[in-house]
Amino acid sequence: MAQSVTITNVAKEFDGAAPVLAGVDLAIPAGEFVALLGASGCGKSTLLRLVAGLDRPTSGQVLIDGQPVSGVDPRCSIVFQEPRLLPWRTISANVELGARRATGAFTPAQVLERVGLAGYGDAWPHQLSGGMAQRAALARALAGAPGVLLMDEPFAALDALTRLRMQDLLVEACGDDPPTVIMVTHDVDEAIRMADVIVILGGSPAGVRAVHRVAEWSDEGALDALRADILHQFGIGAGRANHHDPPHHHHPTNRQEAILA
Ligand SMILES: Nc1ncnc2c1ncn2[C@@H]1O[C@H](COP(=O)(O)OP(=O)(O)OP(=O)(O)O)[C@@H](O)[C@H]1O
Ligand SMILES: [Mg+2]
Repeated sequence: MAQSVTITNVAKEFDGAAPVLAGVDLAIPAGEFVALLGASGCGKSTLLRLVAGLDRPTSGQVLIDGQPVSGVDPRCSIVFQEPRLLPWRTISANVELGARRATGAFTPAQVLERVGLAGYGDAWPHQLSGGMAQRAALARALAGAPGVLLMDEPFAALDALTRLRMQDLLVEACGDDPPTVIMVTHDVDEAIRMADVIVILGGSPAGVRAVHRVAEWSDEGALDALRADILHQFGIGAGRANHHDPPHHHHPTNRQEAILA
């Protein structure tokens, strides 16, 4: 069952260093898919760790389903850029770790089937390809039936084709009752393709700089405008999308209105 995430006025400072995050406010309704974008080093992973309860904010609060996060939260699962499977455990035994402490957990066989790894339960991590290992990591995350799925550049290490397959597979594997998702990515197209909402983190210390809603009915022209707009916010001028005139040229303001909430 998906759970809401509410981040209120969160700041994070590591000892002896300049503050990383300040005044971060974000309300994510249950079941929403949020893509988190921002320059390297701006604090995206730090924010995910605060939501997961792997680290504590210096001030402010994180709530999941209205309840404060205090300590590593069993309602969250996290997927990292690299699979982080334990090499001395079989795939099945790795996936089983994800179900620990969880209520409504799935068996390893059930989740392995959902990520297309049926029959690989007895294999060892070193026997899997990079894409398969990342699917096993996703199975481990889904095994606990999380209310909130956190992903830190989950597809970044994969080749372009595997990456596209993984994006589809994630949507399928989450099933009829998808969790709330916060996915960090550097890939604007991936964000547009997958997310309901794109949140841009920036500044020093970093806060939420922009929130773009990706409407389901957006046409290609509208998505091109959104892509250009986001790239512009990163200081990347004319993106590839702007290189050629689109076949149907609408007034930019109209196009933006079509996609930005
Ligand atoms: N445990 C820590 N101790 C001290 N400083 C830290 C710690 N974790 C992160 N930082 C600092 O916080 C800042 C943000 O780091 P973070 O990993 O959150 O960035 P990021 O947005 O995920 O970057 P990237 O896109 O490169 O992964 C960096 O300056 C980093 O050095
Ligand atoms: Mg990071």
